Amino acid sequence: MMNYNIAVIRGDGIGPEIVKEAIKALNVAAKRFGFALNYHEVLMGGCAIDATGVPLPEETIRVCKASSAVLLGAVGGPKWETLPGHLRPEAGLLGIRSALGLYANLRPAVLFDPLKDACPLKAEIVQNGLDILMVRELTGGIYFGERGRSKGERGEEAYDTERYSVMEVERIGRIGFEAAKRRSGKLTSVDKANVLESSRLWRETMHRLAKEYPEVAYDDMLVDNAAMQLVRNPARFDVVVTSNMFGDILSDEASMITGSIGMLPSASLGDGTLGLYEPIHGSAPDIAGTGSANPLATILSCAMLLRYSLNQQEAANAIERAVQLALEEGWRTADIAAGKESIGTQQMGDIVCRLIETA
Ligand code: IPM
Ligand code: MG
Repeated sequence: MMNYNIAVIRGDGIGPEIVKEAIKALNVAAKRFGFALNYHEVLMGGCAIDATGVPLPEETIRVCKASSAVLLGAVGGPKWETLPGHLRPEAGLLGIRSALGLYANLRPAVLFDPLKDACPLKAEIVQNGLDILMVRELTGGIYFGERGRSKGERGEEAYDTERYSVMEVERIGRIGFEAAKRRSGKLTSVDKANVLESSRLWRETMHRLAKEYPEVAYDDMLVDNAAMQLVRNPARFDVVVTSNMFGDILSDEASMITGSIGMLPSASLGDGTLGLYEPIHGSAPDIAGTGSANPLATILSCAMLLRYSLNQQEAANAIERAVQLALEEGWRTADIAAGKESIGTQQMGDIVCRLIETA
């Protein structure tokens, strides 16, 4: 029987509650499809700061590197917001992506048919459904560039730097083109080449790559226009490839048009099969401990984990079908209930688990 080591970072806020349901789902899938999972709990984020003084302990990096995949809930919260930047929970998240070389972040934004009512866009805009894959560069750009503070002529100043190398653009660009080849064959690269030099290098590099992929219909779009088109005509997008910051912003926007940010999973990948899987939403401290968080984004992240890191395709499909069925049966957590009756985190987990057994 295949046996896999999974590093688990429950994190802060609703993190532990949603990861609990995700692990339940993984276990049901493993049992049904005949493989075994060993979980290794490690700390990252606010809980790591409380226990060890730093957001990303060395031990966490070591265990993650020795695993087949990393499952992550969410990190951060008001308790740690006043700490200096490099000691905040978010620094742990950026740090682990970087330490594991996970430069490609895949964020599929799919509007599940039963959730059409939760989509805030007019029905005619989403009548043909919505299925966008955001490919976000994850270990470069302004989130990793030089930053600091200084005293200038105008008083106190702060700066952050956006820097991209051809190599970084090429490797994320290829992920975008390859994904487009597997899907409808359409790739949009998003930048701000009318202003930023880093975007001009990004665009030049993407154009060079596009020649290697004549089968992919390629276009560029400026980020402000992309933000508008996402709500005006989201169906024009298939695969979108973009920088770290633009991808961060546009993926939250894309999530909202699929009904709720509580539905979107993500996979962070590098050159090997090791990946980190997390919902794109945050730790939602306002609802932590109430048992009302939506566990579906984390459960769907487990499907991506099974698909990309463990190559357990059938198990991945079963989890995705189970989520679809749970929604078809009418089960809703508060975020997707549109004011109607809702169920809690654990109950949603139980329902999905029941459905994985037969889905
Ligand atoms: C995300 C989050 C993180 C990011 C934060 C918490 C650092 O917003 O995964 O989208 O910006 O990458
Ligand atoms: Mg974000």
